[in-house]
Amino acid sequence: MLMRLDKFLTSQNVCSRREASKLVREKRILINGKPAAKSDIKVDPECDMIEVDGASVAYRKFIYIMLNKPAGVLSASTDKNAPTVIDLLPDELCRRGLFPAGRLDKDTTGLLIITDDGDFAHRMLAPKSGVYKLYNALLDKPLSDEGKASLEAGITLSDGTSFRPARVSFKSEEDRSDVLIRITEGKFHEVKRMFAYCGCEVKKLRRLAVGELFLDEDLAEGEARLISDTELKKVFSGQNN
Ligand code: URA
Repeated sequence: MLMRLDKFLTSQNVCSRREASKLVREKRILINGKPAAKSDIKVDPECDMIEVDGASVAYRKFIYIMLNKPAGVLSASTDKNAPTVIDLLPDELCRRGLFPAGRLDKDTTGLLIITDDGDFAHRMLAPKSGVYKLYNALLDKPLSDEGKASLEAGITLSDGTSFRPARVSFKSEEDRSDVLIRITEGKFHEVKRMFAYCGCEVKKLRRLAVGELFLDEDLAEGEARLISDTELKKVFSGQNN
């Protein structure tokens, strides 16, 4: 697949198109060991060896970003009225076509994966993939034994919406309003509606993990970083259990 050198470098978050021209002029870009003649020259990222200042640029067709989503931000690519999760990304992580893989409510915080890989997002979100999502919910009151049992058995709301069985535990038996819940679907307001069924209101909701990929504790709210290839595989670990 041939593409312009400057376009390739921007897509890999190496530099802007303008910077690429400058780097070419300064002979700091090598293609297969020879200085690039022009910034719009065509390269094949899968075959050509491209180096910038002596470091080879590894080709990543898609990127995957972990964001620690703060409250008050929409899980969307663009919005006229409110800031979106894409607006939070630093320049070096931005590229065209990024979108959040799944949605968290505006007031929900925690792990959100942002990517430009539609197939990945589809696979991650498809209920049949059984990728679980782990949430920490702070409730207005303790969850009863009966409530826990019904969430674990799976529930059907009066409007006919059904939710698959969840795994429910408490951080400590002393405080049964601080709940860890693991679900494998992503229906609208799912966790909030599940707890509402049990007579509890969710005061705070935070996503801690998707599959075995846990939110990086070092990321402050609003911060983002790339997900490594090894980490990405964890999204699909521990499915259906
Ligand atoms: N369930 C909810 O109710 N809200 C979220 O943001 C995610 C899961």
